[in-house]
Amino acid sequence: MSKAVTLTTLRRLKQQGEKIACVTSYDASFTTLLEAAGVDIVLVGDSLGMVIQGHDSTLPVTLADMVYHAACVARVANRALRVVDMPFMSYATPAQALDTAAQLMREGGAQMVKLEGGQPVIDSVRALTGHGIPVCAHLGLTPQSVHQLGGYRVQGREQADAERLLEEAQRLEAAGAGLLVLECVPTQLAAQVTAAVTMPTIGIGAGPQCDGQVLVLYDLLGITPGKQPTFVHNFLPEAGSIQAALQAYVQAVKDGCFPGAEHSFD
Ligand code: KIV
Repeated sequence: MSKAVTLTTLRRLKQQGEKIACVTSYDASFTTLLEAAGVDIVLVGDSLGMVIQGHDSTLPVTLADMVYHAACVARVANRALRVVDMPFMSYATPAQALDTAAQLMREGGAQMVKLEGGQPVIDSVRALTGHGIPVCAHLGLTPQSVHQLGGYRVQGREQADAERLLEEAQRLEAAGAGLLVLECVPTQLAAQVTAAVTMPTIGIGAGPQCDGQVLVLYDLLGITPGKQPTFVHNFLPEAGSIQAALQAYVQAVKDGCFPGAEHSFD
């Protein structure tokens, strides 16, 4: 087994221009396959509300759900960094964020917590990192705000929105965030943010110039029902087996072949 991935590893990968491969995971069996495929980060995403629980958004996911799935992943993950989503309204104040993160780390084995949003979560990010809890921020399309955003749509196309997003990324970094997910933002904006911060950026529908990529596991295996977003690629048909598909995804991210222009937004 190669050395465990830490935030230092991820920062080094960014500095060296080596891409970071991240996939969501919610259970022990898939986590074992993902580790064998060489993913750098497993994200226990609240997307589990949709792909596992069958909800139409991530909003119904509870802290108990996240702890349960994070613990399933943590039992077998030895190498990949374990990042766990803080669910909807579980970090509305710094004090609540600290309680939530403590539970995710203590009972769920999280090594880093992820939260969505910019300016409104800055104080929580500062409180968490001030207490030694690594934070992954998430900007662009933030699914916990789907109703406020008016649907799952590309963010940051207007100049003012793009400028705000860039500024929020820098403020999140100044508050201590160590990683940043950029979801559904134009390629050029994601590239600009990636160049402006020292923390690695992990894109999903954010073009090839992010420092790494993340996909929802069930999307990359083509087992999510219904119409797929443009940024998704099903790696299973060409690869022929689940293990080979996961390896093909990691390789495609590392080689810079995924995402292509067809998975990205102008
Ligand atoms: O919940 C999740 O799976 C996520 C990724 C899509 C980034 O936040």
